[in-house]
Amino acid sequence: MASSGSRVVDIHTHMYPPAYVELLESRQTIPLIRRFAGAKDPRYIILPAEAESLEKISQAGAAATTQLPGRPVTTHYSSLQQKIHFMDTHKIDISVISLANPWLDFVAEAEAAETARSVNREFESMCLEHPGRLFFFATLPLSAPAEELLAAIDFVRGLKHCRGVILGTSGLGQGLDDRRLIPVFKALAKNGLMIFLHPHYGLPSEVWGPRATEEYGHVLPLALGFPLETTIAVARMYLAGVFDEVPELKMLLAHSGGTLPFLAGRIESCIVHDGHLVREGKVGPKRRTVWQVLKEQIYLDAVIYSEVGLKAAIDASGVDRLMFGTDHPFFPPLTSDEQGEWESMKWNKAAVEKALGEGSQGTLAVMGGNAIEVLQLKEDA
Ligand code: URA
Ligand code: ZN
Repeated sequence: MASSGSRVVDIHTHMYPPAYVELLESRQTIPLIRRFAGAKDPRYIILPAEAESLEKISQAGAAATTQLPGRPVTTHYSSLQQKIHFMDTHKIDISVISLANPWLDFVAEAEAAETARSVNREFESMCLEHPGRLFFFATLPLSAPAEELLAAIDFVRGLKHCRGVILGTSGLGQGLDDRRLIPVFKALAKNGLMIFLHPHYGLPSEVWGPRATEEYGHVLPLALGFPLETTIAVARMYLAGVFDEVPELKMLLAHSGGTLPFLAGRIESCIVHDGHLVREGKVGPKRRTVWQVLKEQIYLDAVIYSEVGLKAAIDASGVDRLMFGTDHPFFPPLTSDEQGEWESMKWNKAAVEKALGEGSQGTLAVMGGNAIEVLQLKEDA
């Protein structure tokens, strides 16, 4: 188990740098940033589930509702100074920052490579401003032509503070079990770049029922849609044999793997009882189980807010594969000062301490030691 003293590392923490904000401000369809009459801050409207309320407001006018779509754009989203303030307030020594969803998934083919390059340069220069405190997961131009996508991996590999890439579940538009992604996964693995897999699209809005938009806020898509999206994406990769084809590929899964630690047993049972897979010879003695892949190629963040989920994640992947995170700037406190303490820090840290014991080797590892070892977060590394 990694022991790097008691340093705290936040590996799940996002930024929307100013150039990206401008890009969203210029858009008419989601993702976008829009001002509404009477509202102090503009709003980020990024989730598919928010498109419906945006549509309603566009028809009826903002005055007709008390509930504006999306979330206010505060300085927490794009100010580096604010990120450092958040880190200082919560005694976070190092943050591995990443662009937030939906990354560059929506950018036109011809512009994707250049946009990614400028975003990644912006992340590198933020890290250079705070030596030893910031590293980053880069963003890939997934809509660019294949050779430009591979060139982007080559480019970010050369950025001193880049430790991997953040990736959504859509891939090139058909999910992460798409064979066209194999060269991308191989290039990432060859260059030691970890994938931080993060959800955005959730599940189709019909599954939330007709009352969701008006009555249930963002709860269902964020609490359930996000983790299920991640679970489904990784299960598809597993079934497609991606982990065997690219055994050096390392993936860090957001939100403690969605529901993968809880459902791995059921996935295994469905595999060994599937006549089609058995007949095709896919269930032979050499098969690596989901449990093995979880312990050999997968890392999980500790953004699950409760020791029950965290214990499942530790049981599934091992205490040396869990890494603390906050998901800042999402989930700001609503009834206390935003410049003060955030529940995301308090709850996730309490979950680690309850699961592993305050001050224990395990807690030190999850809170920072693992990330320092696995992602090599040493300034002169
Ligand atoms: N957390 C994220 O990272 N993104 C969202 O859209 C909401 C919560
Ligand atoms: Zn996040």
